[in-house]
Amino acid sequence: MKEKIIYTAKTLAGMEELLQQELLAIGAENTQLLKRAVAFEGSKEVLYRGNYSCRTALRFLVPVKTFPITKQEDLYENIKTIPWEDYLEGSGTLAVDAVNSTSVFTNSQYVALKTKDAVVDRYRERTGNRPSINLDDPDLRINIHIYKETCNVSLDSSGSSLHKRGYRKVTGPAPLNEVLAAGLVQLSGWNKTVPLYDPMCGSGTILIEAAMLARNIPAGYFRPVFGFQRWKDFDEKLWDRVKAEENAKINDAAVTISGSDKASRAVATALENIAFAKLTDTIKVTAAAFEYTVPTSDPGVIICNPPYDERLQIDDIIGFYKQIGDVLKKNYKGYEAWIISSDLKALKFIGLHPSKKITVFNGPLECRFVRFSLY
Ligand SMILES: C[S@@+](CC[C@H](N)C(=O)[O-])C[C@H]1O[C@@H](n2cnc3c(N)ncnc32)[C@H](O)[C@@H]1O
Repeated sequence: MKEKIIYTAKTLAGMEELLQQELLAIGAENTQLLKRAVAFEGSKEVLYRGNYSCRTALRFLVPVKTFPITKQEDLYENIKTIPWEDYLEGSGTLAVDAVNSTSVFTNSQYVALKTKDAVVDRYRERTGNRPSINLDDPDLRINIHIYKETCNVSLDSSGSSLHKRGYRKVTGPAPLNEVLAAGLVQLSGWNKTVPLYDPMCGSGTILIEAAMLARNIPAGYFRPVFGFQRWKDFDEKLWDRVKAEENAKINDAAVTISGSDKASRAVATALENIAFAKLTDTIKVTAAAFEYTVPTSDPGVIICNPPYDERLQIDDIIGFYKQIGDVLKKNYKGYEAWIISSDLKALKFIGLHPSKKITVFNGPLECRFVRFSLY
C-alpha cells in the first residue's frame, strides 16, 4: 500500500474552495479547508500531480515535525533533532521561509535565522561540512509556521511559488498573479466553449490561463523545475509517469480567446508570452482602446482587470470606470462581464447592477470580482 501523508497546499485568500475541488479531482482525500490553504491526505503521486496540475495552488508543503513552542530555545533544540541529512547533502543549499504569529519571537526573520543555525550546527557537529544558504534557488526550502504555541516544520515541495508558471518571458507594469488569474477564470464559471475576451489584457495573464484551462495544459507545463526534483527521495519514474499522464489530457479544443489593450507595448508583451506558451493559434490580441472596440465574435464572457489607480495612475478614475460601463452597455449586449478592482467606489460608477460579487485579494489589495450581466 502506498504511504499516505497529510500535506498542505497553500493558495490565495478566496481560492480555497477552488483548490479543494482541484485536489479532489486528482485523488486527494480527507480535504480540509484552512485559511489560504487546504490540508489533504495523499500519496507522493498526488503530491507530484498537484504540483504539476493544480492551477490555484501556490505551494505544497510536506510535514516534517510539529512541536510545542513556549520559549525561543524550543525552536533551536527541536530543529536540531530533525535528521536533515536524510533530506539534503552536506554540500547542498537551503533556504528557510518563516511565518510567526506568536509573542515567543518578535519577527519571522529571526525565526528563519535560528532555524538555519540549528540545521547548520547539526551538520557541522556530525559531518564537519555544512550546507550553504541560497535564498533564490536552494536545493531544500524549509517552511516554519508558528501559531498558537505550536511550530510546524515542513519542506516546500514546490521550490519557488507555483504562480511562476514559466511562460512569462516579459512582464508589464501591473501583471496579475497567475494563480489569481486562473482562479478568476474558474470563479467566472466560464464554460470553456463560449468566447472569452479581456479588453485590458496587459501581459496576457488572464488569456493564457484561460487557454491553458480550456486546452487542459497542466499549470506547471512550462515550469523548468519543482523543489521535489532535487530531493534525495525524488522518484523520477513516478514523476515521468505523472507528467506523461497529465500531458496526454492536452486537447486542441477550438476556443475563441481574445484580448486587446490600448498600450501597444502591453500587446507586444502579451504576444511574446503567448508565443512562448505556443498559444498563438488559440489567443488573438490586438492594440485597441476599449472605448473603440466592438465584439468580433458571438457574445461570451469578458474578464477584465482595469487599472485601479494603485500601480497604474489614471487621472479621472471615476470617469474611466463610467466609460467602461457605457461601452459595455452600448457594445457588448449579451455578454457577461466580470471586472476585478480594488476601487470599490469607482466600481459603482460602472452604472450597472452587479449580479454577483466575490471578494478576492490581489497581493495585499482587497478587491471585488464583480459580474455584470448585459442581457
Ligand atoms: C492592471 S493592467 C492589466 C494587467 C494584466 N491583467 C496582466 O496580467 O498583465 C491594466 C491594463 O489596462 C490597459 N488600459 C488602460 N486603459 C485602457 C483603455 N481605455 N482601453 C484598453 N486598455 C486600457 C493598460 O494599458 C494596462 O495594460
